[in-house]
Amino acid sequence: MFSTSRLFRVSLITGLVAYVNGDITASGTNFSLSGADVSYRFHVDPRSGDLVSDHFGGPVDDFTPQVYISNQGWSTGLDNVGTPGLTNVRREFPDVGRSDFRLPAIHISHADGDTVSAFTYQSHEIVQGKPALAGLPATYGNEGEVQTLIVKLYDNYSDVSAALSYSVFPKYNAIARSFQISNNGTNNISIERAASFSTDLPNLDLKMLELQGDWSHEANRVIRNVDFGETGFRSTEGYSSHVHNPFFALHSPTTTETSGEAWGFNLVYTGSFAATAERFSHGLVRVLLGLNPLHASIPVGPGQTFQSPEAVAVYSSEGIGGMSRSFHDLYRNHLSRSNHTFETRPVLLNSWEGLGADINETSLENLASETAELGIKLFVMDDGWFGTAPYARTNDTAGLGDWTPNPARFPNGLGPYVNTVDSYAVANTTNDLSFGIWVEPEMVNPNSTLYHEHPDWVMHAGNHVRTLTRTQLVLNLGLPEVQDYLIKAISDIINSANISYIKWDNNRGIHEMSSPAADYAYTLGMYRVMDNLTGSYPEILWEGCASGGGRFDAGILHYYPQSWTSDNTDASDRLTIQMGTSLAYPPSSMACHVSKVPNGLTNRNISIEYRAHVALMCGSFGFELNPSELSAEERAAIPSIIATHDKINPIVISGSFYRIAWPGDSNWPAVQFVSEDKSTAVLFAFQQQAVIKPAPPPVRMQGLNGTARYRVESQGFNGTLSGNTLMNGGLNLQWTLADYQSMLIWLYKV
Ligand SMILES: *[C@@H]1O[C@H](CO)[C@@H](O)[C@H](O)[C@H]1NC(C)=O
Ligand SMILES: *[C@@H]1O[C@H](CO)[C@@H](O)[C@H](O)[C@H]1NC(C)=O
Ligand SMILES: *[C@@H]1O[C@H](CO)[C@@H](O)[C@H](O)[C@H]1NC(C)=O
Ligand SMILES: *[C@@H]1O[C@H](CO)[C@@H](O)[C@H](O)[C@H]1NC(C)=O
Ligand SMILES: *[C@@H]1O[C@H](CO)[C@@H](O)[C@H](O)[C@H]1NC(C)=O
Ligand SMILES: *[C@@H]1O[C@H](CO)[C@@H](O)[C@H](O)[C@H]1NC(C)=O
Ligand SMILES: *[C@@H]1O[C@H](CO)[C@@H](O)[C@H](O)[C@H]1NC(C)=O
Ligand SMILES: *[C@@H]1O[C@H](CO)[C@@H](O)[C@H](O)[C@H]1NC(C)=O
Ligand SMILES: *[C@@H]1O[C@H](CO)[C@@H](O)[C@H](O)[C@H]1NC(C)=O
Ligand SMILES: *[C@@H]1O[C@H](CO)[C@@H](O)[C@H](O)[C@H]1NC(C)=O
Ligand SMILES: *[C@@H]1O[C@H](CO)[C@@H](O)[C@H](O)[C@H]1NC(C)=O
Ligand SMILES: *[C@@H]1O[C@H](CO)[C@@H](O)[C@H](O)[C@H]1NC(C)=O
Repeated sequence: MFSTSRLFRVSLITGLVAYVNGDITASGTNFSLSGADVSYRFHVDPRSGDLVSDHFGGPVDDFTPQVYISNQGWSTGLDNVGTPGLTNVRREFPDVGRSDFRLPAIHISHADGDTVSAFTYQSHEIVQGKPALAGLPATYGNEGEVQTLIVKLYDNYSDVSAALSYSVFPKYNAIARSFQISNNGTNNISIERAASFSTDLPNLDLKMLELQGDWSHEANRVIRNVDFGETGFRSTEGYSSHVHNPFFALHSPTTTETSGEAWGFNLVYTGSFAATAERFSHGLVRVLLGLNPLHASIPVGPGQTFQSPEAVAVYSSEGIGGMSRSFHDLYRNHLSRSNHTFETRPVLLNSWEGLGADINETSLENLASETAELGIKLFVMDDGWFGTAPYARTNDTAGLGDWTPNPARFPNGLGPYVNTVDSYAVANTTNDLSFGIWVEPEMVNPNSTLYHEHPDWVMHAGNHVRTLTRTQLVLNLGLPEVQDYLIKAISDIINSANISYIKWDNNRGIHEMSSPAADYAYTLGMYRVMDNLTGSYPEILWEGCASGGGRFDAGILHYYPQSWTSDNTDASDRLTIQMGTSLAYPPSSMACHVSKVPNGLTNRNISIEYRAHVALMCGSFGFELNPSELSAEERAAIPSIIATHDKINPIVISGSFYRIAWPGDSNWPAVQFVSEDKSTAVLFAFQQQAVIKPAPPPVRMQGLNGTARYRVESQGFNGTLSGNTLMNGGLNLQWTLADYQSMLIWLYKV
């Protein structure tokens, strides 16, 4: 909800309503960025030339004097011009020196060995729209949607300049920040730390919420106090990783899903990262989100410029849920570049669970024909189709890197075989089956032609052992020749057959790096490859994957509209994983499949309805199983599951998402989608465990039109209820005495 007082509306002659930005103002060097329900303010301290943070939160109208923190003790920091100790000041772009003892956002090592900087204000400009970031994914928008403030700083002692870029998306209460460092001197410098986002919050009582996990156990919500010292986490895996996501929220202890203040921070980057909230002795809280210093030391030669990744910060006065919806709407409208973002996605069947790597034309055609008979529209061929003897990919010890079809399995290449798959009519539709393929381009097996020809293309550190995971190594995508090879190899596959979907997997972290800076170079190289391929083949539906959700991040989302959420397809576990992932990323960007029972990982037996309901809350729905293993009842349920998908996918793709109850908090977790015009809503409700004498709490819905009436069809009730009744009273659902029950309830405004 937007407070109209802060959002200037103008009626165009067409009758449309447009949001006009008067969103960034500079009064002298007092800067104000405002959105519908957010103000972000900082100014230049005339004595130090430093940028001072004033406010990041709900709307304010003035600059107010800050609390004076005594400069006694070790932090007077007075230099010859009487600059006050910066450790006691709320700083916007902290560097090293001038008595600030907290962690810096920028840390530069100079040719003479020192790492001190003294960036002072030089100039600023305000531009309409948002300049692109060279080589990096970022949010985008036109004039009228976003405005950008660029503040230029200079360090006179080392001839280094900085340009901070702040973009405000008023409709989403979002601020995107990045910066450039230019070397204007004659010696090399090295970037040791770079926090894309940095600000100092006042002495507030704050909690930090983040997503912690591991393989098949991603996105668990953890909440801790922001206490004295550093509260934070990082990835050192070369990628954003399963272990921590480059997202966190700070919130007040009283904030809930539906009320209270929350600040969300998310890095638009896929490499190693670090996230920190540092509470210093006076209680001020420094927020830092950017590169992991262990994977920095990025050289910048004379005349060169370093571009930091972008970080997005959103403010919500409507709890954690409001924060998530700001991210979802911003990312769907201004981050994901794919023109599939707002399109419904086809139901798919992936061959992996059914056939593994033991595939050939005949076995795949049989599975594809069964897929079409089940009414499924997209057939995906997984691992095992590439490599040539002696490095044929028949198991995971060989073939990665050699991206040509295995002639023993596809004697005529992929083209004719894909034409056969494409000729199968999908049951009860007018469509023919579509074909998709799995690749893992960033990896190489030592048992491959590529590795034997180019051992130097692998990420490695001098003579150190090139340690394996899953018998594979990582290609060094920082090398232009590796980027060019991958662009050509993947383009050749796409040009050889009618491919409509590509699953881009990545199954290990980076161990021995050639230098700390190699991760940044790798990440930019990977983006160049993804940018080229998605630009050349925009009609393909691209899906990211990294052993499940190992790279579920905003960087990938810029290029690929969806990512595989987790290798864990147990529906109960998935509910927790999907709920956690939804804190920052839209459900429309999640790929979720129904797999067989008992589940291969957890051995749990859950009904096909529950499994389908959990997977249907994601943008991309499919099956990861061998149809021959389905029971008669399961097979019989498939047509109605597909019909439900076709009905529900539009609201999942473009509706607003509400978490009603978390699986960790309640035995009756629930989520809900509401259409943009609030005329349709759908509730997914679950019971995890059977309980004796159950009195489940009413399911209080969210985001409806309070005064409208909705037709509700559930459990024999067929009538209308007002939005207020549904939101404040709630639906009382009657559960049977059994584990893992689920319901899908539609509401239509009458
Ligand atoms: C900037 O804000 C300060 C208050 O912090 C005020 O004293 C000063 O006059 C303002 N300057 C301008 C040019 O608005
Ligand atoms: C730094 O140098 C620039 C020009 O090189 C000058 O305009 C500016 O006043 C200097 N700043 C300080 C703080 O000395
Ligand atoms: C520093 O270098 C950058 C990049 O070459 C350039 O845009 C900027 O104008 C330079 N600044 C100064 C003060 O020379
Ligand atoms: C900067 O580093 C590059 C690459 O290591 C080196 O070739 C060059 O000589 C260095 N330049 C200076 C001025 O030290
Ligand atoms: C294809 O694979 C199936 C299953 O492994 C096997 O029975 C069949 O003989 C294979 N066909 C060819 C032509 O290799
Ligand atoms: C694994 O694949 C390699 C290369 O194709 C092959 O030589 C080897 O026999 C396979 N191993 C097994 C156990 O199938
Ligand atoms: C290469 O393939 C052979 C044959 O399958 C296998 O024994 C060996 O372990 C593989 N080497 C690596 C590094 O995976
Ligand atoms: C991708 O790279 C190829 C080969 O360098 C080039 O021909 C093509 O124009 C590039 N496509 C895009 C969209 O950048
Ligand atoms: C996506 O956009 C490209 C042009 O950028 C167009 O050729 C293609 O048809 C579009 N695809 C879809 C599915 O809209
Ligand atoms: C196709 O439609 C028929 C008639 O409505 C129905 O019995 C059958 O289950 C449907 N099959 C699929 C795969 O949807
Ligand atoms: C809410 O519903 C009422 C009754 O249908 C309607 O008059 C009103 O315009 C709706 N409000 C919004 C914000 O859609
Ligand atoms: C519910 O009522 C509506 C309107 O009276 C009717 O069209 C619909 O078929 C009913 N649904 C059920 C499940 O009885």
